[in-house]
Amino acid sequence: MTFVVTDNCIKCKYTDCVEVCPVDCFYEGPNFLVIHPDECIDCALCEPECPANAIYSEDEVPADQQNFLELNAELSEVWPNITEKKDALPDADDWDGVEGKIEQLER
Ligand code: SF4
Ligand code: F3S
Repeated sequence: MTFVVTDNCIKCKYTDCVEVCPVDCFYEGPNFLVIHPDECIDCALCEPECPANAIYSEDEVPADQQNFLELNAELSEVWPNITEKKDALPDADDWDGVEGKIEQLER
């Protein structure tokens, strides 16, 4: 089992999640974070920390966001590790809750 970062993280990237992860399995892209599925120990600590409610257990990812399982696996292999909280993206509060931000994903 793994936890998965989904659409509402895009263009927000609050990074509260990375501070609580005991195994440092978050990876950072320009405007999105992902979890490495082989490193996550399923502790669930990160889920309630995300102000954007973007993190789900693998078996609770909404039906219309199933593509994020593959996306987390793929991008965590190429993006650098992030272990410390940093400032959210400048317009994070404006983008929080906007649907379909996958179109805004920068790789
Ligand atoms: Fe890290 Fe635990 Fe969240 Fe997995 S569930 S990403 S191990 S904090
Ligand atoms: Fe993204 Fe939420 Fe972490 S917005 S960076 S998953 S705290």
